This record gives sequence, structure tokens and C-alpha cells, in this order.
Amino acid sequence: MEVVIAPGPELGRLAASAIEQLVREQPDTVLGLATGSSPLAVYDELARRHAEHDLSFARVRAFMLDEYVGLAADHPERYRNVIEKEIASRVDFAPGAVQGPDGLAEDLVAACAAYEEAIASVGGVDLQLLGIGTDGHIAFNEPGSSLASRTRIKTLTRQTREDNARFFGGDIDQVPQHCLTQGLATIMSARHLVLLATGRGKAEAVHQLVEGPVSAMWPATILQHHPHVTVLVDDAAASRL
Ligand code: GLP
Repeated sequence: MEVVIAPGPELGRLAASAIEQLVREQPDTVLGLATGSSPLAVYDELARRHAEHDLSFARVRAFMLDEYVGLAADHPERYRNVIEKEIASRVDFAPGAVQGPDGLAEDLVAACAAYEEAIASVGGVDLQLLGIGTDGHIAFNEPGSSLASRTRIKTLTRQTREDNARFFGGDIDQVPQHCLTQGLATIMSARHLVLLATGRGKAEAVHQLVEGPVSAMWPATILQHHPHVTVLVDDAAASRL
């Protein structure tokens, strides 16, 4: 595990550079996209490099980590729409190149299985962007998640719904109770994991991720078993290391 401590804006550039290098070497790269505020600086930087330096995503395919269950197709906080707004619409992905778990499927169990098959059918994810929750969750794998889990339905914890209420007008009752999320084993199958965390609120989770014992109670600690992980943190998030 490589841990890089740098100012926030620099972290976005570092992650964008890793993605740019991969995409230029291998135009049909498979990316893993994350939602939340942590990857926004990366997406801004990728959009800038697309506009100013001809960085093309025309042959790239991308898979999202997770999705809320039951949010209307046009809901602005539906992760599919968030990803469209933050990155997909700002670069030149081919139609259909970005996929996510279908939180509106009638058969959610089948949708999870189909999603795993879709990822496997393109040979897996080359580089997966990740954020981390204050309780150490990655994607929506909350504390107690099986370290061997694959894409499945999960119930969101009160902590995560409180953390994410800011995206729903501050009203926790508007935050869905359930989600579909790639499992920890799904995420561990990606060839390079790039995790970003900023701010003091993430310090305990980053401490556990880097220095804690591997435990389902801090799901991100499973990354200690991955051969190629880059952890990008600012001073505040690194303050407990
Ligand atoms: C949500 C997402 C996670 C993300 C986390 C942290 O729960 N499902 O993928 O890592 O939020 O979000 P932020 O980066 O906004 O702190």
C-alpha cells in the first residue's frame, strides 16, 4: 500500500495522472468510478485534460461502485445521474460505456448478478477510484460486510444516511434505506485501487485502513490484502497516522 500525503487539489491531479497514463497506454481501459465528494477533483481534472489535452475516453468502459435503491430515474442524487453530471457528460465516453447497478430493477437480486457478469465480461476493472466513509465503508459496504462479498443489496447505516443527508437537502428521511453495491471481493478484483480521503472526519477511517487490523468492522481494511493500492490523503485525513 502506497500512502501519499499532499494538499487536496494535488490529490485530484495525482489520481487523474494515474488514469491518464493508463488510458493513453491502453485506450480500452476499464475504469471503476466512485461517487461522493472525494473523487470530484479527479473528475474536474479529467474533464480539463479531455478539453485541453485531447485525453479521450472514446474506447474506455466504466463501472460504478454502487447505487441507491428506488430513487426515480430523474432524481438528481441517483448515482447514475451524479456520474453523468460529474464526469460522463464532460468527456467523450461512447453511448452505454458507463454502467451501474440498476437500483430500479424489479428483480434486484438478478440485477446484482447481471452486474457482476457485465464486469467480468470485459475482463474486470483496471483502475478503481474509491472514497471512504467516516465509518470505514467503501462503496456501500458498511461495517460488518463480508470481506468476500460480491454485488448485492445492502441496508444503509444511520451513520451513512446522516453523512449523505447533505445531498438530500439535509433531510435524512429523504435518503434511501437500501442500495446495491459492489462487494468487497468485487472491488478487490480490480487491478489498481486508488482511494482518496480528505478532511479530519476521515482521519480515524484512514488510520484503520492503513494501520488497523483487517476486520469486517472497518471494511476498507481489506485493501491491506491488495497488491496495488494507492491511498491519497491530505494532512487532515492523515492526522492519525
Ligand atoms: C458514499 C459512497 C461511497 C463514498 C462515501 C464517502 O457513501 N457510496 O462510495 O466513498 O460516500 O463520500 P465522500 O467522498 O463524499 O466523503
